[in-house]
Amino acid sequence: MLTGVVVLVSDQPARSAPLADALQGVAMCELVGFEVDWSTYANAVAVVTDVDLARPAAMQCLLGLRRQPWAEARPLLCITHRTSDKALRQAQVLGASACLPYYTEPHVVVTALLNLINPNEGALNATVRQCAERAGAVLTTLFSAAGTSGRVDLQAIDNCVDPMLLALSDGGLARWLNTIRAHDNATYQHSLVVAGLAAQFATHIGFPEAQRQRLVRAALVHDVGKARIPRALLLKRGSLEPEEAVIMRTHAVLGYEILKASSGSDPAMLDAVRHHHEMIDGSGYPDGISGDAISDVVRFLTICDIYAALTERRSYKPALSPTEAMVILQGMQGKIEPRFVQAFGKAVAQAA
Ligand SMILES: [Fe+2]
Ligand SMILES: [Fe+2]
Repeated sequence: MLTGVVVLVSDQPARSAPLADALQGVAMCELVGFEVDWSTYANAVAVVTDVDLARPAAMQCLLGLRRQPWAEARPLLCITHRTSDKALRQAQVLGASACLPYYTEPHVVVTALLNLINPNEGALNATVRQCAERAGAVLTTLFSAAGTSGRVDLQAIDNCVDPMLLALSDGGLARWLNTIRAHDNATYQHSLVVAGLAAQFATHIGFPEAQRQRLVRAALVHDVGKARIPRALLLKRGSLEPEEAVIMRTHAVLGYEILKASSGSDPAMLDAVRHHHEMIDGSGYPDGISGDAISDVVRFLTICDIYAALTERRSYKPALSPTEAMVILQGMQGKIEPRFVQAFGKAVAQAA
């Protein structure tokens, strides 16, 4: 969210309320009438009007806006209540950067406004969305192959890694996570979130490129064993019964076996997939290894995995905020590496 305010001019606050709500996603939105004192809004990031511009009071209001020294540099988006050429020309004369018809959905208005505030945003959003969709399609195929044949095509995963790292460095982690979370396909959503967090983490602590690629690659496939867990269990609402939890926990070994049977896996990937639920105190699974037997790559991945699970909405729990998730991670002393948790917190905060 941007700092500053989006000023929404409306002569009918009740009608404009849904738009005001949606604009809160851009910056704090202030709903004002025609008598607005523009001199107090130098902190505005944009102005949106939801009025009939043919009304003399509306024209006076916008002429008052144009007299402000800051107004020239701020986008003015007009929701037009008449769509004739004359009405559009009038909006332009009054300084409109863009016009949208009154029936435009609020979320479309938000996207248009974001593009006006930062024209590069549109291109970045499209790049990140395309990359996420491609990686999602690859993961869908991967999970389906893992479920039916017990082998996967790791070359297809490798082809996703560099475009993903590029999309993340250009577009940022926050945009990546928002894009992934907008698509409600749980099969790959979690893997893409973990991979994005792993990339951010690796970049923040200065991993060399090859190591960063290996970590992201492992993150993308870390839960591939879930392809062989009964769907009813994966989709179950509420907590698992003890015997169901035992079955669910087999996904780590199942994933390891799937990757071992596939060509192109590397030891770090096999280690990460098998051990991403191990804890430093030996209380994890499947092998109950502890301390130095757990490699750094696995420790990184485990932290990303837990944070992702906590901040994801599941059928049996709401999503926790990043702050709440960090408090839980910090409370897991003895189970995960505290130095890495601290570094992870900084990496994620940097991306917010
Ligand atoms: Fe897992
Ligand atoms: Fe996971």
